[in-house]
Amino acid sequence: MAVCMGLVTRLPLCVQGRGRFFDSFHRHLSSPGTAILKREEPPTGSEEPGLPGNRKTFSEVQKERHEQAQRSILISCPKKVPEKRLLKHLCQHGEITNHFFFESFGIHAVIEYSKKESIASLQDSTFIPHGETEFPIPFKSRFFNINLKNPSNQISDGTLVQCSDQSSPSNVDLVEMLCNAESVEGQIITLMRILQVTEENIRLRYLTCSLIEDIAAAYFPACTVKPFGSSVNSFGKLGCDLDMFLDLDDIGKNSAAKTAGSFSMEYQVKNVSSERWATQKILSVIGECLDNFGPGCVSVQKILHARCPLVRFSHQASGFQCDLTANNRIALKSSELLYIYGTLDSRVRALAFSVRYWARQQALTSSIPGAWLTNFSLTIMVIFFLQKRSPPIIPSLDYLKNLAGAEDKCIIEGNDCTLVSNLDRIKPSLNTETLDILLCQFFEYFGNFAFNKNSINIRKGKEQNKPDSSPIYIQNPFEPTLNVSRNVNENQLERFVHLARESAWILQQEDKSQLSKSSSHPWGLAALLLPSGLNKSKAKKPGKGPTNERIRKLLESIKADSAKRSTATREKRTTQS
Ligand code: GTP
Ligand code: MG
Repeated sequence: MAVCMGLVTRLPLCVQGRGRFFDSFHRHLSSPGTAILKREEPPTGSEEPGLPGNRKTFSEVQKERHEQAQRSILISCPKKVPEKRLLKHLCQHGEITNHFFFESFGIHAVIEYSKKESIASLQDSTFIPHGETEFPIPFKSRFFNINLKNPSNQISDGTLVQCSDQSSPSNVDLVEMLCNAESVEGQIITLMRILQVTEENIRLRYLTCSLIEDIAAAYFPACTVKPFGSSVNSFGKLGCDLDMFLDLDDIGKNSAAKTAGSFSMEYQVKNVSSERWATQKILSVIGECLDNFGPGCVSVQKILHARCPLVRFSHQASGFQCDLTANNRIALKSSELLYIYGTLDSRVRALAFSVRYWARQQALTSSIPGAWLTNFSLTIMVIFFLQKRSPPIIPSLDYLKNLAGAEDKCIIEGNDCTLVSNLDRIKPSLNTETLDILLCQFFEYFGNFAFNKNSINIRKGKEQNKPDSSPIYIQNPFEPTLNVSRNVNENQLERFVHLARESAWILQQEDKSQLSKSSSHPWGLAALLLPSGLNKSKAKKPGKGPTNERIRKLLESIKADSAKRSTATREKRTTQS
């Protein structure tokens, strides 16, 4: 059979160790935003991974990605897999439109066929292995192993397959890269480009959801498993968790229309006394399935008594930490909202990436649940700050609702979640402030915000009186009676305020002193990412001046630099006179 590959993709060489991050950094800088596009055309036509080009609506992007994932498979490959032969072998089942390799517990390949039927053909010709002491659970998934029949006879061209990076650089490497940028604005853009999820990583996220959907579909054939949160809202960083939810809402839709004649038919079902209980029962069963026969699913934990019941597990092959919930449509709508703001103005994502990463380095956020701020809360704070600029950089949520058409009407659990989906209806902002100004102003703004009396409300784009005594009140965009930062305690808020003031101060001092931009002294954004002495000790009272060792060192380097500059000027004058 003729080899029938479509556009076969190849990814840049995965150089091990530190060097690879510099390679990826230069790749990003040499052709900003186009490195991935050169390799292939993602389905969304995006200029930046995770963002739609041509202003596709959020649901159009979701639909396209979901369908793409259903045509894809995951394969665990031997280390020295001959790439061309592998593709030729797989092409027996149909045209391949896309592929890439990545490393996670060995080499894996994602193969995308142009038609779903190709996968059925591949599954028909695949056998279930039988060990001598181990017995397989014969679940036919879309996750395969491929082995060389006779490795010693295989002619290898000696090259290892090229693997796509799935991890972000260390903070030390990142700080070094940022020091090589031209300006604080350049640093902010560089940070986002280095940390953001790649096109391949996004595909892998949708494919992982699709593999879980196959398992859930054994019970609920018409269900879908949808990713939400930072995997889809365009604020995702490489390595972020994979939030997904089991959507059963479409099951039974339109069935009323199908019943013609004198009778109406309905399913015999078991009933329970609350929706929460139904969710718990469903998730419990799916959790058991994942644990018992979900290929690659390990460390499955059922956390059914949480406010939002969930099943947490690791998907070993993709390397994702997954949280599976059910009936979580409001969270998907929140993801759409963030996605819209991220698409409206390029400064939104850039600023949010810097603020979120800064917060992580300063231990203001954590992967462990606790009294910390979350990335979701921080993103809402960035959105609010940009709404408050003069003129505003992005509009209020009420404005987005007012522009919505009849097709956008959306009520979830009694909450009006209507949002305009056609972003061309929104006028671009007249604000031309640069990112370096915005970063400094963000810290200044929240370093002096009246958290004791005001709440943050992105629906109105204005602060409002706080309805309760929580240290910080960020109104939930779609459930107005809820505070998304209700978990944050006074101590954590004080740390945030203190570090925000300190960061604003560092940026302002550098600006005044015209500090030379060298790679030996972290400057600009890089200076804010150094670990703070405050992280180890208890929060101090927020102050306006420099208070810790980090600032002292920075000040010393600023002074040393300006001393050098004035000596040089004096010498120059002496020579001239
Ligand atoms: P990461 O930290 O990168 O995972 O960011 P994330 O946005 O994915 O946050 P997280 O995994 O904590 O939550 C996933 C999604 O759930 C968020 O994007 C929101 O849509 C939603 N979410 C998280 N926290 C809250 C909350 O307190 N209230 C509401 N309504 N939704 C929340
Ligand atoms: Mg998440």
